[in-house]
Amino acid sequence: MRLALLAQACTLGLSAVLSSAAVAQTAETQQRVERVAATLAAELATLCPAADVGDQNAFVACKQGLYKDSQLKKSLPDFVLWGRQRDPKLRLKDTKLTQFGPDAFTGLYLPMFMFNGKQRVEYIESEKLYQIRFETAFRNRLPPGQFPYPFWHEAEKWAMYEKANEIIVWWDAAKDRAKVIQFTVFGPNAPIASHTPVVHKFDGQWLWTDDSGKTQPQATVFDGMFRADNPYIGKLDAAYKTFALKMRDGSCNQCHVPNNPDGMKKLVLLQTPVHAASEIKRVLKTVRADTMPLDELGVEKPLDKATKEALLKEGVIFDQLLDEAKAWEAAQDAKLSKN
Ligand code: HEC
Repeated sequence: MRLALLAQACTLGLSAVLSSAAVAQTAETQQRVERVAATLAAELATLCPAADVGDQNAFVACKQGLYKDSQLKKSLPDFVLWGRQRDPKLRLKDTKLTQFGPDAFTGLYLPMFMFNGKQRVEYIESEKLYQIRFETAFRNRLPPGQFPYPFWHEAEKWAMYEKANEIIVWWDAAKDRAKVIQFTVFGPNAPIASHTPVVHKFDGQWLWTDDSGKTQPQATVFDGMFRADNPYIGKLDAAYKTFALKMRDGSCNQCHVPNNPDGMKKLVLLQTPVHAASEIKRVLKTVRADTMPLDELGVEKPLDKATKEALLKEGVIFDQLLDEAKAWEAAQDAKLSKN
């Protein structure tokens, strides 16, 4: 009974998310979306221009530009749905996607791509959404620690990233916000930078420590998102690790990891500091409300008191440090703008 209700709630929730935005195509909305597309394309080409696919400086400049204060970031909803377009004919509601807050999306994912300013707008009647399609190429020669997680855990996924030729922003004209963002290999153009495939091996770890004692992927410990001398980086890394142990006690990592063992339609990722940071408010909320974790049938499975308390305690510490780290960054920005 409970299971049936939950399943029903999930279906309702999902269709509400994917259909509430429907807006009919009119000349006026088309023009408005065209203007947004032109603005975003110009910004993307300025912050993340076509470059060598292994150019670390170009990547960092792109990441900082998008993460800080970009128009693109302002165009995102609280949680944007991201993923690859496996098949252009597949409806969005049948597509597996991952949810990201604006920080994780602009700090980890979008900067892996580069742009040349070329875009086109198309109205997709079946979804009642606009597509803004940006020509792109993927930076496949960055060091492995610059990717949010080893995409090569699945050879086909990595190959698709490598061959991406367009980023599709599904635009919700009713809210003037992006809704779903996909990368695709099915665009008509060639990728905008040339590259040869790279082979990586996956050793089963989403987060690991390298030979020099650094947490990897380094990108997920706020590398390039926060200033290198941000005094909170080390503390955040340590706080996340303590918090992650509590999440493991709460079995969260049985489902909230990139290989998506539970087959979630809208995957939520928690396996690194940046991923967890973008979800921490919702994590605290769901644990307080006993709506997470779920058991293997998708039924709520309340934590025992001690596990719940420990999870909340460490989660609150992580959340507070995050606020302090961001406040420190803002203070540095304010100092710079005064000078
Ligand atoms: C058996 C699998 C499973 C386990 C274990 C699990 N979750 Fe989830 N979680 C889900 C599913 C399924 C969703 C719904 C995703 C969607 O919207 O499609 C979800 C959603 C969430 C969300 C987003 C909630 C929202 O407001 O939409 C958060 C946050 C979350 N889980 C945190 C946790 C935490 C913290 C734990 C451990 C205490 C945990 N989960 C354990 C399967 C699981």
